[in-house]
Amino acid sequence: PAVAAVLPAGGSGERMGVPTPKQFCPVLERPLISYTLQALERVCWIKDIVVAVTGENMEAMKGIIQKYQHQRISLVEAGVTRHRSIFNGLKALAGDQPDSKLSKPEVVIIHDAVRPFVEEDVLLKVVTAAKEYGAAGAIRPLVSTVISPSADGCLDHSLERARHRASEMPQAFLFDVIYEAYQQCSDYDLEFGTECLQLALKYGHIKAKLVEGSPDLWKVTYKRDLYAAESIIKERIS
Ligand code: C5P
Repeated sequence: PAVAAVLPAGGSGERMGVPTPKQFCPVLERPLISYTLQALERVCWIKDIVVAVTGENMEAMKGIIQKYQHQRISLVEAGVTRHRSIFNGLKALAGDQPDSKLSKPEVVIIHDAVRPFVEEDVLLKVVTAAKEYGAAGAIRPLVSTVISPSADGCLDHSLERARHRASEMPQAFLFDVIYEAYQQCSDYDLEFGTECLQLALKYGHIKAKLVEGSPDLWKVTYKRDLYAAESIIKERIS
């Protein structure tokens, strides 16, 4: 049964403070997203990889696919939020697009373009768990304590660190479950939500299994993360 992946890559990367969106920033002269695509392509059982990019970056993305000979990639237009970008990717996989050559998979992996060090073992773990539970995602222990501030900028409450986790990527879903969740959810969810597992839980009536991920699954966000990514790549090729 087929497995496909959706890769949202339509962000502007404001937090990095550079004009180029972080997924296109060079790491050892190669764009960051190219490493992420390579990591997914190494996994032979992922049939299709749907990448969501803005109209502005569409040509650049086609150039990257050609230059680095990426395989099994389809491009869709990104949305104004991450959830909307993912939804566009799912629509393409559902065969709802008139010119789509894609066929609906049993399971879909969702992974960020800016997490280049995803490995086959964690992809297999989330896919296997998604088949059993309906949804699954990688988690990590929290580095910092999470707090909720009040409107006046004071502490409302803080969460007990040891009892909470950071939600990372990859995540995997039975395709029908997550597609239905995206169709059912509100505009508010699509605008402000940041968690696909939550959507699946709320609208899909399934359980979302949590799988321990490696520290290398972190999301490249700040400029210093590019240096960290560079040193990991150097270490791996040496
Ligand atoms: O903004 P954030 O760090 O949560 O972005 C995570 C991933 O979602 C990135 O790969 C980014 O390119 C993508 N994204 C997207 N469409 C948006 C915003 C973010 O595909 N409108």
